[in-house]
Amino acid sequence: MNFDRHRRLRSSAFMRDMVRETKITKEDLIYPIFVVEKDDIREEVPSMKGVFQISLNLLEEELDAVKKAGIKSVIFFGIPKEKDAEGHGAYDDNGVVQEACRISKRLHPEILVILDTCLCEYTDHGHCGLIDPDTQDVDNDSTLPLLVRTAVSQARAGADIIAPSNMMDGFVTEIRKGLDDNGFSHIPIMSYGIKYASKFYGPFRDAADSTPSFGDRRTYQMDPANRLEAHRELSSDLEEGCDMMIVKPALSYLDIIRDVRDRSDVPVVAYNVSGEYAMTRTAVDMGLLDEAVIMEQMISMKRAGADMIITYFAKDICRMLDEGM
Ligand code: PBG
Ligand code: ZN
Repeated sequence: MNFDRHRRLRSSAFMRDMVRETKITKEDLIYPIFVVEKDDIREEVPSMKGVFQISLNLLEEELDAVKKAGIKSVIFFGIPKEKDAEGHGAYDDNGVVQEACRISKRLHPEILVILDTCLCEYTDHGHCGLIDPDTQDVDNDSTLPLLVRTAVSQARAGADIIAPSNMMDGFVTEIRKGLDDNGFSHIPIMSYGIKYASKFYGPFRDAADSTPSFGDRRTYQMDPANRLEAHRELSSDLEEGCDMMIVKPALSYLDIIRDVRDRSDVPVVAYNVSGEYAMTRTAVDMGLLDEAVIMEQMISMKRAGADMIITYFAKDICRMLDEGM
């Protein structure tokens, strides 16, 4: 018979393990944590079962659980006590994520802390920058200095990595310069430069209380229909000196992850966003799908070219890895 015997390499678990091309490890995972600037809150996000808003005074317990699971890095998102038009909470040296970072570094210095540099969780209008009163649109250039202040205060709080998600043009250049000028030239920038205007962020906006009070984010986040636009964003971020590149969302954008992998030499991060989590979580919890689909989705992101994955499933994945799945 004259054909290839592909089944030879699938004949046993040992054989399959040996030839497996893509693996998930705990080091790949980055776990998002929502911290609240009010005491004694540990509240499940209704649209994200298993994900909680947690007060700073209860953070220790959560970090212990993260450590115990074997998660090596976290990214904090903040829910401040007060919001205003300029998002002051974002660049307050004693702001909620700055404090979360200090607590984390004090309790578990080996856990890598990533901080998200944006204003939307801190502005009363919910947009990622300052609003131009004439156009009612986010003003790019006057927002940049506030993002620089945010990044510098995050670095001062001990952040290991700065991850700007605001989608203003030039943010990598400006933040890099701000960090360098303030003695933080050693702190890497993980750019969320390829961020689509996606409905998959819905549950996150519930969790972070950051839904825009008017309009939407389509004048700064990317059109889901565009691929070449991602190449342009990638080129400018690389030129501006970003150290790592995030693609967000992940599962409906695996082609973009592959493009970024093939067109750059920096580590690529897939952000498995809140809506993706909510869909899979719900289907698994309802018994419609086997829990193993979570791992299959993780594999798909790495197979597309991601080196790391930001995911709300990090704890579940660690458990599954421990169980040998
Ligand atoms: C803030 C930010 C967003 C997410 C991370 N940082 C949301 C947004 O643009 O509204 C989304 C993450 C998720 O959906 O899990 N700029
Ligand atoms: Zn934002």
